[in-house]
This record gives sequence, C-alpha cells and structure tokens, in this order.
Amino acid sequence: MSVQSTFVSQIKNTEGFRNYAAEERARVKELYRLNHANQTLEFVLRKKAEYGDLIKAEMGIWEAMEFLNTLVDDSDPDIDLTQIDHALQTAEAIRQDGHPRWFILTGLIHDMGKVLCLFGEPQWAVVGDTFPVGCAFSEKIVYQELFEDNPDYRNPSYQTLSGIYQEGCGLDNVHLSWGHDEYLYTVVKNYLPQEALWMIRYHSCYPVHREGAYEHLMNGQDQEMLKWVRAFNPYDLYSKSDARPNFAELKPFYEELIEEFFPSKIAW
Ligand SMILES: [Fe+2]
Repeated sequence: MSVQSTFVSQIKNTEGFRNYAAEERARVKELYRLNHANQTLEFVLRKKAEYGDLIKAEMGIWEAMEFLNTLVDDSDPDIDLTQIDHALQTAEAIRQDGHPRWFILTGLIHDMGKVLCLFGEPQWAVVGDTFPVGCAFSEKIVYQELFEDNPDYRNPSYQTLSGIYQEGCGLDNVHLSWGHDEYLYTVVKNYLPQEALWMIRYHSCYPVHREGAYEHLMNGQDQEMLKWVRAFNPYDLYSKSDARPNFAELKPFYEELIEEFFPSKIAW
C-alpha cells in the first residue's frame, strides 16, 4: 500500500468529524494495532536517537511544507484536502480569532513532523494519538486492548502506575510514543516560545490533554502549559472545511510570519 493511501492524520472522537465507514474504521484499527504492538520504550529511545541529531535534511519551513504536500491523506473521510490546505485552514482560524503571531505560526506548522512518512517511517510511527511508554498504559488510551501484543505490556517494571518515572517528574521527563509531535518539537525547539512548543509536542496526546490521564506524572508547569494545548485543539479539529484556502493570496503573510521566527533553512 502506498503512503498516500494509508496516511491517517486525524484520529479524533468528534461527532460529525469522525464519520468513518466500516472499512475506514478497520483501517484505523489496523493502524492502532501496529502502533500499540510496536511502540515500546526501546523503540521510542531508538527513534529519538535516530532523529535527535537532525541530520536528515536542511529545509526552510515553506520548503518542508511543499515537501510534505506530496502526501495526501485520503483515509480521512472528512474532506479532500492537502497537508498545506489543513495547515492554512488551522492557521487562518487562529488568526481570525485574534491570537498572537506565534500561535498562528504554530497552527501552520503543527503537523509538519509528518515528513517522517517521507523519510520512510510507517504511518503507525508517525500519526495517531500518543501516550507515555515505560509505565502502565492508561485505560483512557484509544484501543487500549490492543496493547496485549506490546512486549512492554509483559514487563512488570514498565507496568506499574509510574513505571520508570518519579511521580510528579513532569512530562518533559516522560517518553511519549514516537510520532510527528515529538519529532517536530525537536526540530523547532530553539525557535518558538514555550507555549507553542507544548502545543506542537502534545497535540496528539489525547489521553493527557483530553482524558486527564497521567496526572500523577505531571508538575505545575505541565498543568499551566496544557491549557495552551487545549486552547489549540479546537483549531486542529474544527477548522477543516471544503473551502480551499487561497494559497497565492495568503503566502506573503505567512512568508513574513515564518521569517519572523525561523532562519531561511533549519535542520530536520
Ligand atoms: Fe497532528
């Protein structure tokens, strides 16, 4: 199967925005079957080591966006949009609500870590909800029953409530399942304010930002910053529409915005 035909970017429980046909649900379940079986602590540490040095590419933000645009998520039943369309719709919705410029920029770039697909990563290691590894898998994680095939599930030291972590250690010290959130965070962490970095790093962590799981691992800063992740989430979920943003008209605004925060090339 091609990356294009299996690419799943939106795995969300939202009435009206999740109208999957049975076949679509089977495809999403298969994604999570692979994800939950393979996202072990060892896998996450290996991917962090592999991508942490940022030696895969040197690209500007627009360049990366155009690269990412070669992916079309045709498994998302909501609408038929490209990655740039979704990026611009998210950013424009944030802009229309009068939020700060870094917030608009975050909307624009939040899914750009999906270039992992173009670096050859399977979609189960790129998209879908994320969750902590190295401690018990919360019942709040989607398809929790599929963790039975994960080797960590049978490792007692990884299956206590806090596992390898100290209670209250802070999410920064917790390893989440590997995907586009953590990767993009690594790429942009020297360029954006803390709030933006939190939105990018945790936007797929629905067990934490929506379900309230793993509070025992959090600290005070997490509680403060998660407010921003929750403020961002509706723009990711509900800004989609069939009306394609006018790319040519919007490009000058976004080029200037990108230049305000990023050099012309960054390491990926
Ligand atoms: Fe995303």
